[in-house]
Amino acid sequence: MSTTPATAASPSAADAELPACVDIRGLSRIYRLGGEEVRALDGVDLTIRYGEHVAIVGPSGSGKSTMLQLLGCLDTADAGTYRLDGHDVGTLSESRLAELRNERIGFVFQGFHLLPRATATKNVELPLVYAGVGAAERRKRALAALEKVGLASRSDHRPDQLSGGQRQRVAIARALVTEPSMLLADEPTGNLDSKTGAEVLDLFDQLRGPERALIMVTHDTALASRAQRLVFLRDGQIEYDGPPDGANLTDLHA
Ligand SMILES: Nc1ncnc2c1ncn2[C@@H]1O[C@H](COP(=O)(O)OP(=O)(O)OP(=O)(O)O)[C@@H](O)[C@H]1O
Ligand SMILES: [Mg+2]
Repeated sequence: MSTTPATAASPSAADAELPACVDIRGLSRIYRLGGEEVRALDGVDLTIRYGEHVAIVGPSGSGKSTMLQLLGCLDTADAGTYRLDGHDVGTLSESRLAELRNERIGFVFQGFHLLPRATATKNVELPLVYAGVGAAERRKRALAALEKVGLASRSDHRPDQLSGGQRQRVAIARALVTEPSMLLADEPTGNLDSKTGAEVLDLFDQLRGPERALIMVTHDTALASRAQRLVFLRDGQIEYDGPPDGANLTDLHA
């Protein structure tokens, strides 16, 4: 059973009126390996509204990556429903799902995942290529996104001509260029030293806005405690859902 503490998790009246970006009911992902069953996610209920900044934390094997894969429509659940922007993801065709992913979701990964031979601008343009946006418009929007992350002066640099923090900022610009309704980040500071990681955190803070949900998986307690809401997973269930200061973060590395 999910043991969400009612007091910590109760959204304020104002929050309750914001529309839901993510609405998950009874979501389960069960891996069957040999004769064994692993309930990576086990009947999870979760609502995330636009404007929220959520950190998903929990011990190794608790289901964080599984949750992110499902949220990002990169994997499908075995039971339960997932509505993204009101669309019931489980009923969509593969091509409609790909469209939804490209239009509504921005991904930021620990390892940046940039094209090594392409300039920052070309990397940021990529989701717009998939979306069928014309070349001039693509360039304009990519430059504006790079400007937003403070990298206008590095637009012609390739990834190997950028620092780690700058690469991650290019990846963030790429995630933002489609103006997604949800930004998913998987350990976004995992490959960065603490100072550069802090700069990336500052950038995430600036990206908060009423039009977008920011969801990140992290082992980094500094990152987790800067989120406005913390979802703590254990054994595929939500053990805590509420403000970071109510959670026991020392358990994160357990
Ligand atoms: N493809 C798979 N086949 C079988 N079991 C899997 C598979 N992927 C994950 N699992 C199991 O599901 C559970 C949840 O895994 P998940 O990767 O979501 O954990 P996590 O919280 O991201 O852990 P970590 O912090 O180590 O990255 C684990 O017990 C894992 O062993
Ligand atoms: Mg993981």
